[in-house]
Amino acid sequence: MDRPLLVSPSILAADFARLGDEVRAIDEGGADWIHIDVMDGHFVPNISFGFPVIEAIRPVTAKTFDVHLMIAPVDRYLEAFAKAGADLITVHAEAGPHLDRSLQAIRAMGKKAGVSLNPATPASVLKHVLDRLDLILVMTVNPGFGGQAFIPAMLDKIAEVKHMVRGRNIDIEVDGGITRANAADVARAGANVLVAGSAVFKAKSYAEEIRAIKTAATSIAV
Ligand code: DX5
Ligand code: ZN
Repeated sequence: MDRPLLVSPSILAADFARLGDEVRAIDEGGADWIHIDVMDGHFVPNISFGFPVIEAIRPVTAKTFDVHLMIAPVDRYLEAFAKAGADLITVHAEAGPHLDRSLQAIRAMGKKAGVSLNPATPASVLKHVLDRLDLILVMTVNPGFGGQAFIPAMLDKIAEVKHMVRGRNIDIEVDGGITRANAADVARAGANVLVAGSAVFKAKSYAEEIRAIKTAATSIAV
């Protein structure tokens, strides 16, 4: 079962002084989803932005808000992110003591639920929560910063996750260091949602870069 190939530009790399315009530009440039990185300075060594920023950009686009929460403990904030406009909420496997409960809480609010795996986190943590998942995010860098180098060892994990979810309605997303140069590799391994921050926002034309990543990823013979 082939899933559609989607590109989800990360606004972490956008010009925050013009954030609304930047979101509009990636929307018009062909972004499938909008990837929104929330960092708490505790789970990851960086702080980005929170609910008011998500609320502020919600009216700008109808595209899916793919909210990647790099915060712990996460449970107490799930409702606020749902209310701020998230469509899909991804938590890290280590973001609380009860992953299954977090996923139930997200779905109970009518939102899609994802789990993110740090580079050192094994895919096996997902084995018993697959029924509660809409998406698995395989981090291809250590979370916390944009502009880091892709970790090639994650290709094996993507393939492992792909094997694990076979037959299920679950997207496999990759995040960190994704460019037009490695898009085919991650797609071949099994990813169908590609996050790209620096690659898109440092490009002269967002539309051309999004198209190039998508073309590279869809050009593979699976
Ligand atoms: C990293 C974030 C990523 C980041 C990706 O912690 O989760 O979404 O914005 O940025 P690039 O594509 O520049 O690696
Ligand atoms: Zn992210």
